[in-house]
Amino acid sequence: MQQKFPLKNKFPTSSRIIYGCMGLGGGWDNNPVTPENLKLTHEVVETALSVGINFFDHADIYTFGKAEETFSQLFKTDSTLREKIILQSKCCIRFADDKEVGRYDASKDYIIKSVEGSLKRLGTEYLDILLLHRPDPLMEPDEIALAFEKLKKEGKVQNFGVSNMHQGQLALLTRSLPYPLLVNQLEMSLAKHDWVDIGTTFNDCQSRQLRFIGETIEYCRMNEIQLQAWGALANGLYTGAALCNETLDEKDHENVLNTKALLTKLAEKYAVYADAILIAWLLRHPAGIQPIIGTTNLSRIKSVTQALRIELSREDWYALYVTARGHRLP
Ligand SMILES: NC(=O)c1ccc[n+]([C@@H]2O[C@H](COP(=O)([O-])OP(=O)(O)OC[C@H]3O[C@@H](n4cnc5c(N)ncnc54)[C@H](OP(=O)(O)O)[C@@H]3O)[C@@H](O)[C@H]2O)c1
Repeated sequence: MQQKFPLKNKFPTSSRIIYGCMGLGGGWDNNPVTPENLKLTHEVVETALSVGINFFDHADIYTFGKAEETFSQLFKTDSTLREKIILQSKCCIRFADDKEVGRYDASKDYIIKSVEGSLKRLGTEYLDILLLHRPDPLMEPDEIALAFEKLKKEGKVQNFGVSNMHQGQLALLTRSLPYPLLVNQLEMSLAKHDWVDIGTTFNDCQSRQLRFIGETIEYCRMNEIQLQAWGALANGLYTGAALCNETLDEKDHENVLNTKALLTKLAEKYAVYADAILIAWLLRHPAGIQPIIGTTNLSRIKSVTQALRIELSREDWYALYVTARGHRLP
């Protein structure tokens, strides 16, 4: 049985898997969008829709705004599409330029300006959900509240959430915001499993090396904040052809090879592709996580959704977790 996910309360038609648009629009540069970039966006979205994915994740910065820009063509060719999908974008990251360093900016004016830019590029009147992309140390919750209120009143954003925030930051914002935070988008995958480790190693010396903040997952579950997992396919680390990460030491290398072998075995057992097992591992967690997939490979988009028709056994879930972490549980 696959768990219900919190966002269903607000968006009953939402797909469990999200398509992440970071790879659309071409390069991270100011070159103009090409016909090839437009074609890829068209094919990727068509494919996602054909396998039931109707939730799309953007950010103002993705490929310097070109991911949003290429997406707008779809609304031009199908006027009914906008109402059929859930459109999420993010703001707050500002890149370095000749004058300024790279920084985060959750000031009222910048949030509003960023959303207006996203709407213009996307060619839509509203975002279903806006996320603050990363926690700005200078953020003032009361000021963010004013920005959210204005955007909601003007019909530009319907719901709000955050990304990469821990429970203290969520609680701080919640105290001032006029609307509930609907989403927290975090990096979570079989490769980035510290969000599980923090619970399994509490009160054990293994937890000393962890950087994940303790109760974030529990806070989100208790407050019905939808967890969305970015990097869900672990960037192809376990399922890609080559193991090209030069930063891996010998022990990590061995873990990756062991995890690859186990994924292959489980893919055979459940009669799905290995990429689907990676997603099934996230789906099996009782928090009701929404995995975000960023692949632009059309057959991979299809094969990943096989995860929705299987449920990993408790034993297989643990086997993957323990193999990927490379050492036994306390
Ligand atoms: N909130 C945040 O801070 C944040 C940060 C990063 C990303 N995100 C969101 O999350 C989405 C997904 O993140 P992501 O793209 O970093 O992670 P991902 O989905 O784990 O990785 C996608 C990348 O891995 C490659 N890949 C996956 N499986 C592969 C395989 N079997 N063989 C070869 N290559 C494989 C893909 O290449 P192919 O295209 O060739 O398949 C693509 O380059 C993004 O699009 C974005 O929407 C959010």
